[in-house]
Amino acid sequence: MTDSTLERRTASLRNASWDDIREIFSLAPDTIHLNTGTVGAMPYEVLDTLDQVTREWAGGLLDVYAPTMFTDYRATIGRALGADQDEIVICHNATEGIARVINGLDLHEGDEVVTTTHECYSVLSNFNLLRNRFGIKIKAVTPPTGYDVRAEDIVELVEAAVTPRTKVLAFAAITLFTGTAMPIRMLCDVAQRHGLITVVDGALLPGVLNRNLRSLGVDFMACSGSKFQCGPLGTGILYVRNKVNPEYNRLPLPVFWPIISTWYPMQGSPPPRTRTRVESDNIGDYLQSAGSANLARGAGLARASELWDEIGRDRIEARTMELADFARERLSQTFGEERIYSPSSDFRLRSPLVAFNPFRPSDAWNVKKFAALTARLADEYRVWIRWTEFNVPNSPHQHYAARFSGHIYNTDEEIDHAVRLIARIASAESGS
Ligand SMILES: Cc1ncc(COP(=O)(O)O)c(C=O)c1O
Repeated sequence: MTDSTLERRTASLRNASWDDIREIFSLAPDTIHLNTGTVGAMPYEVLDTLDQVTREWAGGLLDVYAPTMFTDYRATIGRALGADQDEIVICHNATEGIARVINGLDLHEGDEVVTTTHECYSVLSNFNLLRNRFGIKIKAVTPPTGYDVRAEDIVELVEAAVTPRTKVLAFAAITLFTGTAMPIRMLCDVAQRHGLITVVDGALLPGVLNRNLRSLGVDFMACSGSKFQCGPLGTGILYVRNKVNPEYNRLPLPVFWPIISTWYPMQGSPPPRTRTRVESDNIGDYLQSAGSANLARGAGLARASELWDEIGRDRIEARTMELADFARERLSQTFGEERIYSPSSDFRLRSPLVAFNPFRPSDAWNVKKFAALTARLADEYRVWIRWTEFNVPNSPHQHYAARFSGHIYNTDEEIDHAVRLIARIASAESGS
């Protein structure tokens, strides 16, 4: 694309209506996709990029190793997330990024990790692995759920779990089960007060919440590229703090072992980590260099990121939150605010995900109802949502919820239709 064509394109996507923007996505016809928290719909241009780059490299006559560093793509993605190329890694998904971070921490017997029971399995299973392997201790608090939860309720609960032995604070940017947008900056302030490393599961953040990762002050954030960022399946973005900007995080860079690396020196040690705003080494290169890679994946993810910049990340966040607020309103009118698990009145905790119980309160423990509801919606009505399960304070049993996660290709009408269908199915189930 020439510069002037790109400028025209950017201007047109920036001003395009949401109806027009919906047309750029390869959405299955006659479906309502309200499950972007699991996987986003890909733009046609991303599919084309995947195809084109795969063909370009399919002949076998080119050196596939050099481009696996994805240097330009990492810079493009980094710019969108407020980070530099040396702080960004393109990996396979959030799970892989999280595993590489957790297993790369310098933790020893008796060290403690504070986290929550609402973390994804990918976080909790990796910490449990370190517990079994090294004897670390995990303290997982259960965050409160419900319409009127406030950010301070969560921050105070987390801080109360910190002890002099705590080394790491781990939490999700947006929780998978109740769609709580965790107060990242407030939790990072807690971590910095106590000298803790922050590990953030950002699977659901990029592509929807327009955040500058460096200014959040986190040490590590592992993100998915295929959810709200709508990149190819099997893409993830890993952010690793690689310089000290005291206005965001004055703590020294943590000791970190970049596992799965063909760039880490074969003898001796890398240079000591910087204590200033200037990197002493490229930690991103260490992690990026991990043997042959699917080159089309990196190109596809970078293309998705550019498209988001063209549409406008601030605009995407505003639109997605507007849709979620509409969903919240319709769900509250239909089932009552008390059936909504996602914190809603405190705008700091709102995300595009809304989790709710459309059945009787006592059915919150009945997994069969939630599984049957999501299956019927998909099979009979081609409406795609998901159900989740999570701990609730003082409840002897996990609760289940139905979860909406809308994105810029959804409409109020789709949400309204889904709420009506769910109300109909739930009321038939309750026999009322
Ligand atoms: C909060 C959260 N963390 C991690 C994951 C795993 O993401 P990935 O499929 O990119 O590994 C998910 C998946 O839904 C998630 O929602």
